[in-house]
Amino acid sequence: MKALARWCAVVALGAAMLGTAALAQSPASASSRPWWKGAVIYEIYPRSFQDSNGDGVGDINGITSRLDYLKSLGVDAIWLTPIYPSPQVDFGYDISNYDSIDPQYGTLQDFDHLVAEAKKRNIRIIMDLVLNHTSDKHPWFQESESSRNNPKRDWYIWRDGKGPGQPPNNWQSVFGHSAWQYDAKTKQWYYHKFYIQQPDLNWRNPAVRKAMYDVERFWIRRGVAGFRLDAITTLYEDPKLRDEGIVRDTSGKPVINAFGDPKLDDTRTNNLPQIHDVLRQLRKVADSYVGRHVVLIGETYVSSIADLRAMYGSHEDELELPMDMQVGFINKLDVNLFRRRLNEVETDIDGNEPLLIFDNHDNPRWDRYGDGVHNQDIGRVLATVLFASRGTALFYYGDEVGMVTTPPTRKADVRDPVGIVGWPKDKGRDGERTPMQWSAGANAGFSSPNAKTWLPIPPSYQTANVAVEEDKPASILTWYKELIRLKHTDAALHTGRQVMLNVNDPNVLSWLRIAPDGEAVVVACNFTAQPRKTSFDLESYGVRGKQLERLLETPGAQAPSSLTDVELPPFGVYVGRVK
Ligand code: GLC
Repeated sequence: MKALARWCAVVALGAAMLGTAALAQSPASASSRPWWKGAVIYEIYPRSFQDSNGDGVGDINGITSRLDYLKSLGVDAIWLTPIYPSPQVDFGYDISNYDSIDPQYGTLQDFDHLVAEAKKRNIRIIMDLVLNHTSDKHPWFQESESSRNNPKRDWYIWRDGKGPGQPPNNWQSVFGHSAWQYDAKTKQWYYHKFYIQQPDLNWRNPAVRKAMYDVERFWIRRGVAGFRLDAITTLYEDPKLRDEGIVRDTSGKPVINAFGDPKLDDTRTNNLPQIHDVLRQLRKVADSYVGRHVVLIGETYVSSIADLRAMYGSHEDELELPMDMQVGFINKLDVNLFRRRLNEVETDIDGNEPLLIFDNHDNPRWDRYGDGVHNQDIGRVLATVLFASRGTALFYYGDEVGMVTTPPTRKADVRDPVGIVGWPKDKGRDGERTPMQWSAGANAGFSSPNAKTWLPIPPSYQTANVAVEEDKPASILTWYKELIRLKHTDAALHTGRQVMLNVNDPNVLSWLRIAPDGEAVVVACNFTAQPRKTSFDLESYGVRGKQLERLLETPGAQAPSSLTDVELPPFGVYVGRVK
């Protein structure tokens, strides 16, 4: 979660670069596909998107007021990180009531209004569902901790220690140190994969499972179009409570993590097979709302394509969209790795829909790929991989105007407890949660001019913001809008299958998209700081044309006219239709 390189967010005012070629007609197959296939989903961190009441914290009415902007961007759905009542220790991921809205974000009526207004614009709302744990202030936990005999005792994971002052085993919290917290009153320990204030639910208890399926029903009835399932791989733990293995370096020494603890292999607390039963059940509940196409998205940090494939289940009976962290979190511009992983996700997930993602509220923004010189163009390359690849695309608010990771500079300013525990090695996640940059005005248009915003407005707001970039042909915002428009309207980019091209090229990542009717589009991205040339021979793919019609290219680039003379500037992009 550490911020890496920074990028200069100055918006280049270069020559107009957008292709003006007529677009293919709307894909014919679109109506028969579920809405989420090939869709564009926008993640909103509600605290930071738009404040409507001047308290310095974003809220639901703020989001509603920005729906026209989201419509102009072309997003199909919004994923809201948790807005339920919460003590906000983990900014909403510690829920104290699953069936309501935290007053600082608004009311259930505000939420209904948001859903209705979004629907008018054909935008769907996706809720974050936190199933692994609750807040320690949730009434369920308060009952559970009240005595060993309480009927809700077994709703959480309580165990005896190994001996006086010793937790049951070596398991660690993702947020640092032991995952066990001692309760002096009942003289047992409870397990928390995340913060102490986020006790894990016991998913082996049928009453817990039922309660959570009821939560799912509650929000579907309220009109949501899907869920992003938080930390879904961590629901189950080894019932025998065996220690996890310690990860060692090549010399056999334990690897130490940012919190100063030995790194564990996560084998007893993550990705246990039982999670698949839960996914199937969540799916069944969703499918019982016939005709709604409620989508299940998973936060799936898994380490192989086989594990990712398993998340889909069979015939979409588990997650439809497990997040593919394999592509977006390569974290360096390694052309071979990008090619391999994009190919895997095309060929090794049983034809399911990939869900690509580059950043979110837990990770530094896309400027982590920057080299400090060409960041603007590197940003274009990443956005092109995201939107011009087959699949559903998920992106994080503010990326579309080039917002950069802005971590706190002093420990005293840190809001995210991860940063407080991990400082200075891990400064936490505040850097990627700063307020949305709407304009160069006071508080970047996020809140009223005199409000004290919950996190500071980054200096980049003066040049990287919606107002300054809107209608500027060379802006990042325009680049996003054009890519999203092409993804929706060009048949090959919308539904076409994908083949990686020139697979031995060490510099240029290129691929072909072919629509069911044979329409073909090539995409080429220069992954280096030097100009590169490339050429394509597409006959073996059944593509006969030799000429190219420009759809999109980096500002200042020369449009190629044929498949054999494509020239790309440093980190340049070219997207063209084969004629
Ligand atoms: C997920 C969320 C993260 C949260 C954690 C615990 O990883 O994305 O923000 O802190 O789960 O709920």
